[in-house]
Amino acid sequence: MSVQTFTAPNAQGAADTCARHIFGLLQAAIAAHGRASLAISGGSSPKLMFQKMAATPFAWDRVHLFFVDERCVPPSDSASNYRMANENLIAAAKIPAGNVHRILGEIEPAEAAKRYAAEIREFFGLRGELPQFDVVHRGMGPDAHTASLFPGDPLIDDRTGIVAATFARKFNQWRVTLLPGVLLAAHNTVFLVAGEDKVDALRSVFHAPYDPRQFPSQLGNNGDSVAWFLDERAAQGLRSR
Ligand code: 6PG
Repeated sequence: MSVQTFTAPNAQGAADTCARHIFGLLQAAIAAHGRASLAISGGSSPKLMFQKMAATPFAWDRVHLFFVDERCVPPSDSASNYRMANENLIAAAKIPAGNVHRILGEIEPAEAAKRYAAEIREFFGLRGELPQFDVVHRGMGPDAHTASLFPGDPLIDDRTGIVAATFARKFNQWRVTLLPGVLLAAHNTVFLVAGEDKVDALRSVFHAPYDPRQFPSQLGNNGDSVAWFLDERAAQGLRSR
């Protein structure tokens, strides 16, 4: 089987369907090994999905929440992915504080990356191997970036590291991001993408030759453990022209 795509009439429909899919994957992980690891992305698209997830009763005490990336700003900053997740999911779902693994956006980026990698290694009990998250939720920018891996970033070729700090020139902002090897190692990957502004990027991801340096969202976009949740506007990009 190949990559699955689900198209909903609008962003709310895509968010709701994606949330249900994630819950199914988390439930399976909890049934299999007693707990589930979920890495979430930021930006604006996930907000509706986080609200849907927060409104759905779930065994959150069995779920450990990680971040795919973070802007290097304090957690109170309006640009903080943690703040958006906390306001729309964590606080409302009462996810136990010990289950939330925040990237410390308020400290020096390289140190934040080092500490986050150490926390991931400790949680997964790693001795050199890469973490395998049960679910990684990714978004995609209009430039086909994913996580904080932007077109042209040499980090896109990294297959051994867990976390790195990177300067996002486009936003004049330091970021901390999971690295490609971790994205590729995920047991399940879900993309939630909505809006007209994503059409060209989606078309490139699905129809341009494989070139993740140019189209970072092509990373890991293969196999039956990847599912895209789209609204009709973005889904126009599934057509090759
Ligand atoms: C971030 C995200 C990033 C996001 C895309 C899409 O920190 O911005 O992790 O990878 O998923 O930029 O963002 P939108 O949903 O806002 O379009």
